[in-house]
Amino acid sequence: MIGKAITLAILGGTGQEGGGLALRFGKAGHRVILGSRDAARASAVARAMNETLGRAAVSGTTNKEAAAAADVVVLTVPYAAQRATVEEVREALRGKILIDATAPLKPPKVARVQLPPEGSAVAAIQALLGGEVRVVSAFQNVSAHHLRELGREIACDVLICGDDAAARETVIGLAADIGIAGFHAGPICNSAAAEALTSALIAINLRYKCPGAGIRITGVARDRELLRDSSE
Ligand SMILES: NC(=O)c1ccc[n+]([C@@H]2O[C@H](COP(=O)([O-])OP(=O)(O)OC[C@H]3O[C@@H](n4cnc5c(N)ncnc54)[C@H](OP(=O)(O)O)[C@@H]3O)[C@@H](O)[C@H]2O)c1
Repeated sequence: MIGKAITLAILGGTGQEGGGLALRFGKAGHRVILGSRDAARASAVARAMNETLGRAAVSGTTNKEAAAAADVVVLTVPYAAQRATVEEVREALRGKILIDATAPLKPPKVARVQLPPEGSAVAAIQALLGGEVRVVSAFQNVSAHHLRELGREIACDVLICGDDAAARETVIGLAADIGIAGFHAGPICNSAAAEALTSALIAINLRYKCPGAGIRITGVARDRELLRDSSE
């Protein structure tokens, strides 16, 4: 657990994955600001979320204002919009953790792994932003469908990749706040594994007619303290 309530901006929070994370983080007691290209849309979606949650945990504004007001920023826009969205909010990200949930899906063949030439969509964003922003890759393999069913336990694990161990630890704490076990899974380049898995999971969803196949890590103690990274 992260141990205190923080303010999270969710860029693309009006959509499927960001909306699910917003509901879960709001339910967990964090303050959530939905970012959107359209502040009015974000406000309307936030109002509906607050009705679902039964309290005013969520607000909505532009992506830029949301990023500026947040302690931690979460990116949940389609791959085609990932870089442009980051460039738009770049100044506001300085000194912060950016959690990037992007999987580089290229419609229509979303069930086929199509990693970018850089190797990983999220690593490319860390390279773009440089050392002033600690980018952490997470949540690529968590179904939006399951996140949005608030009464449902999220029965899958999350690979947490990033070059900064402390930033990864913060994201593991945030995942724990919404009932998801996150695992230190190495540096940001390893995000390629989680990004590729998304297409494999979509293929499983299609083949077995289910909305949210996920992954479980086995063979490691599931005690939070033991999962801490001792290598750095
Ligand atoms: N859906 C899932 O189950 C799932 C699971 C894991 C990871 N992800 C990842 O999460 C990200 C978002 O997926 P999603 O399914 O939530 O997508 P989505 O619902 O289609 O889009 C999310 C939001 O992104 C914004 N957006 C859409 N097109 C845009 C554009 N061209 N430029 C700027 N903003 C745009 C929209 O917000 P505004 O119109 O309000 O700006 C939209 O509500 C993707 O990278 C995906 O791979 C998704």
